[in-house]
Amino acid sequence: MDQVTSRRAFARYLAASPLLAALGAAACAERQEEAENEDAEDAREYVGTLGEPDQALGELVTKAEDALDVFDMRVTAQRTLPSAHYGYIATGVDGDVTLRANRSGFAHWDIRDKRLAGIENVDTSTTLLGTPMETPIILSPTGSHRAFHPDGELATARAAKSQKHLMILSTVTTTGVEEVAAARGEPVWYQLYATARWEITERLLRRAEAAGCPVVVYTTDLPVSSNRITLSRFIKRDRRDCTQCHASGDAYGSRNTSFARKPMFDGLGMTSADFNTPMQAWEFVDRLKAATTMKVMVKGITTAEDAQRCLSHGADGIVVSNHGGRAAESGRATIDCLPEIARVVRKQVPVILDSGIRRGTDVFKALALGADAVGIGRPYLWGLGAFGQAGVERVLRLMRAELRTVMALSGTRTIADIGSATVMRNSGPIS
Ligand SMILES: Cc1cc2nc3c(=O)[nH]c(=O)nc-3n(C[C@H](O)[C@H](O)[C@H](O)COP(=O)(O)O)c2cc1C
Repeated sequence: MDQVTSRRAFARYLAASPLLAALGAAACAERQEEAENEDAEDAREYVGTLGEPDQALGELVTKAEDALDVFDMRVTAQRTLPSAHYGYIATGVDGDVTLRANRSGFAHWDIRDKRLAGIENVDTSTTLLGTPMETPIILSPTGSHRAFHPDGELATARAAKSQKHLMILSTVTTTGVEEVAAARGEPVWYQLYATARWEITERLLRRAEAAGCPVVVYTTDLPVSSNRITLSRFIKRDRRDCTQCHASGDAYGSRNTSFARKPMFDGLGMTSADFNTPMQAWEFVDRLKAATTMKVMVKGITTAEDAQRCLSHGADGIVVSNHGGRAAESGRATIDCLPEIARVVRKQVPVILDSGIRRGTDVFKALALGADAVGIGRPYLWGLGAFGQAGVERVLRLMRAELRTVMALSGTRTIADIGSATVMRNSGPIS
């Protein structure tokens, strides 16, 4: 037992001790609270190590600019956010196996360096479905930004604007799409959680179209609530009264009840039952295509067979994603799903990969294995939780700089130059 662990065990022992009770109830309560706070601390550290082996390198930073990598932001977000809100970002499902796989999957691939390539300036620009982008790093859709910073999605959008990144806005945004697009300075792409009632889906499509969104990203991997055990553990340790924001008895347990109250559902008579869509099938993509002027991307694809179905149903693009390990506990890293999907898609439509991207080298490997762009989720939420807009900006700058470095070192001047010959599958450590 290390020193910290034994100190905490001793505090808990004291809290439970009849001797201490004899010394006075107030002292006992104080000890009890101390022990509970330390339990919460333990829980944060516990989840902090899941899926992200670089945790040991993370430094607590007090200024966004001092973060050396995105893991520094995570450490600061952990310390800053209430336990339940940090847990909402951190959680995977069941035993968090897929969450961990998303990170370890990148280590199965190595980058093949190229020397004396004579490259003066790398160019990270690209175009996706007609949207020109200075970088292939996109902000994946994530809900509830105001749980992480009072400025919420507006802070994220302002950072995306100043750093010139594409932002995909979640259906369960805590700010309406119109305001977010205004803060971004140009239309965002809109992520759709389809609902059991078609008329609600149609109203969401009309609102996104009216806000100028050129692309709708239809998320397919969460037709029912998923089993977020790690989140539940963090909630248990959060001692705040959450009933002001979360209906009592439902603090976070049911995503559906709190989701129904989000601004995109204002006036639509949404009920929690409308979120469960297990009956949805591929014909829904045909219906979406017919119902909207926006291009339709399908998010949550992890197999060649489903990628083929996307093509057959006329999808304009594919997001290879397992929701950051928050939906099905498949155990498969998205980076390991990508090659089979790229073989089927053969550049007929653009492919975005997300889930587990934390460094420029991860971005590079995804592009080399067939993605046209990548999405990040947790890294920018850590930045948002730690420092608001400045934190998101710092995360985007860090990841861009890392990508530029690996491009220069691997002799790839443009995004198109990052081909399959630039990476190789490794055979694990030499014993
Ligand atoms: C806190 C949080 C909220 C999310 N909310 C949504 C959402 O509303 N819609 C959606 O399609 N995906 C959502 N996702 C999944 C992300 O779009 C993305 O697939 C995932 O975060 C990528 O993995 P990463 O976090 O490891 O980068 C969410 C992810 C997180 C961490």
